[in-house]
Amino acid sequence: MASQSTATKPVKNVVILISGRGSNMEVFLEASRQGMLDGTIVRVISNRPDAQGIDTAKRRGIATAVIDHKTFDTREAFDAALAAEVASADPDVVVLAGFMRILTPVFIDRFLGKLVNIHPSLLPKYAGLNTHQRAIDAGDAEAGATVHYVTNELDGGPAILQARVKIDDLDTAETLASKVLEVEHRIFPEAVNWHLQGRVLHAELGAYLDGELLPPGGASWDPCSASSA
Ligand code: GAR
Repeated sequence: MASQSTATKPVKNVVILISGRGSNMEVFLEASRQGMLDGTIVRVISNRPDAQGIDTAKRRGIATAVIDHKTFDTREAFDAALAAEVASADPDVVVLAGFMRILTPVFIDRFLGKLVNIHPSLLPKYAGLNTHQRAIDAGDAEAGATVHYVTNELDGGPAILQARVKIDDLDTAETLASKVLEVEHRIFPEAVNWHLQGRVLHAELGAYLDGELLPPGGASWDPCSASSA
């Protein structure tokens, strides 16, 4: 069972991992600027030197680091270096915001219970890549995004919060991706705030919100309300 060690610290440290554009990361930076994040963004780390999000974070005065996965011989060696960098920032939560590397137990086991990812599908449907095209090809009426704790099962950790969007007849993978991205930007900081507030935690049986075990898809996001439980 992962422990929730964030409860007693006065200021909670948020580390964000990215691989590319960083639009979700920007939403966290903006929430922080507006005093709407229950923690301090202490570092943004990319596995790609050319990630657009790294430039954005630097411009906003956030400490950044690049650990280029291409310079390591094995996934485990990369994960050990990434874990050392993350640990040096003393995180209360590690936010995987479009971080596109599969992580091994070398990294995951060290931060279990503090790792929160967003995935662009209605998990448990469509773990992995090409989620939008797969939902369209299956004739699904809805797609969406899921914020979940990370375990060693790819995109299989306990869900915290999920938002749905309608798939229209004319949707392509691109149009659907941008509809889903809009809801990602709404649910991701909300779910991470729940974690920072100690409202949600990762335990052996799954994710608990306010002491209640969440269902497999997590809590359902209600677009009409700021809070979704
Ligand atoms: C987001 O759609 C996120 O859900 C997805 O990558 C995109 C990153 O966008 N993540 C995954 O697919 C993880 N498996 P961003 O860099 O603009 O935040």
